[in-house]
Amino acid sequence: MTIWTPDLSGDGPRYRQIARAIADAIDSGALATGEKLPPQRRLAHALGVTPGTVTRAYAEAEKAGRVVARVGSGTYVAEPGTQDFTQIRVDRGTSDVIDLGLALPPPLAVRDSGFARALSAMPADATLCATALDYQPPDGMARHRTVYAEWMTALGLPVAADELIVNLGGMNGIFAALSACLQHGERIAAERLTYPGLISVAAQLGLKTVPLAHDGDGLDVDALAARHARQPFSALYVMPEHQNPTTTRLSEERRAALVDFARAHDVWLIEDTVQFLPEAERGTPLYRLAPERTILLFSISKMLGGGLRSGVMRVPPVLHARVETVIRNVSWMPPPLIVGLVCRWITSGDADAVLAAQWDELAERRRMTHEALPGIDVATRAGGFFAWIRLPPGQRAAATATRLAAQGVRVTAAESFCLGSEAAPQALRLCFSAAPDRAELVRALAIVNQTIASPPAGAWQTI
Ligand SMILES: Cc1ncc(COP(=O)(O)O)c(C=O)c1O
Repeated sequence: MTIWTPDLSGDGPRYRQIARAIADAIDSGALATGEKLPPQRRLAHALGVTPGTVTRAYAEAEKAGRVVARVGSGTYVAEPGTQDFTQIRVDRGTSDVIDLGLALPPPLAVRDSGFARALSAMPADATLCATALDYQPPDGMARHRTVYAEWMTALGLPVAADELIVNLGGMNGIFAALSACLQHGERIAAERLTYPGLISVAAQLGLKTVPLAHDGDGLDVDALAARHARQPFSALYVMPEHQNPTTTRLSEERRAALVDFARAHDVWLIEDTVQFLPEAERGTPLYRLAPERTILLFSISKMLGGGLRSGVMRVPPVLHARVETVIRNVSWMPPPLIVGLVCRWITSGDADAVLAAQWDELAERRRMTHEALPGIDVATRAGGFFAWIRLPPGQRAAATATRLAAQGVRVTAAESFCLGSEAAPQALRLCFSAAPDRAELVRALAIVNQTIASPPAGAWQTI
């Protein structure tokens, strides 16, 4: 059988030539969406290069969003402009692509120094051994829960230590909340555009999903009762403060109505505040309005660092034992060494300094984003990581994301956030937080502006 074999030409290392040839073949239609690329060894043999060169080329094409690698199966041409949640790999700084596709915190010196101080403050003595090497309670150590509770309260999320369950961050919280509230085959409702991690966990747990309408004021609460009558759901996942990806905030009026609805229909509320904003940007938390039925998800991933894998969930007392069971089944408990480190970072005051510096940096990046994209419909929030860009009429999100990827800038088309089968809006999420520095952000934004300002001349796709 013949395999797709590109003619390599142009300058630069072979792996880049191959990656470029893949992009050209996709653009020209020689490689179709969903088509499998040749096995790496066979292509290497056909081209007379080492298998490592092809591996690197495929990784480059993947980073540019052109292909996806499926473990044990091979590499396939990606759906244009979308990001498959199960295939996400974070590899900052290892390629030429400016990746604004993932909501990563901006690099900050104050974060690195705070981390180093917290590490060096860890006592190398018997107390640490006794804590860190031993099994601890599944909901976390009492003193760690107290530190988290005091910090959250100071940040404007008043909680008591015994309401908290320490976990492994936001994803772990979503998994634990859905597992505790729902049985296989039951329905979970969420905004029609939502965090892809929620979609992935729901699929894994065999849950049915109910996409809900939302607009500039957040979830359309008026439509909820009718939707519930047609497709009753047991839990509702929502991001009231900073909707990911659309940046909206749920109005106070709708919060009250949402709580009334949840009480009337006995629905659990899962309130995700992982994309954490300054207090002035937030409304009344749902768990304050309906403490008996709301799980709050809080993570330090977007504050101190995603690598720490630490967060907490505030859980109604009736669900505490069920959530504990999930945590025990997944990891027995949160790792006391990591949680202890995070707590030191918090109690030293250095965590607050990171947050303040991050909000300053984000304010500047936000300003730069609006300045660089004049005349384009760009929504952002103070303290947020990303912009939601609604494309001018006539432009398609997936095609625009693909054109951007070809120029070395990665963003995410709305399609990746879609729950259900309704058409996605023609919009892109651009995480200005993720640029390695401001200069790279300026470079990327200029490309985005130019790409949106000059769409390709209309061409008949069909007759
Ligand atoms: C809304 C939302 N929830 C949860 C998560 C997952 O958080 P973590 O990285 O702590 O697992 C993210 C990550 O981007 C997110 O945006």
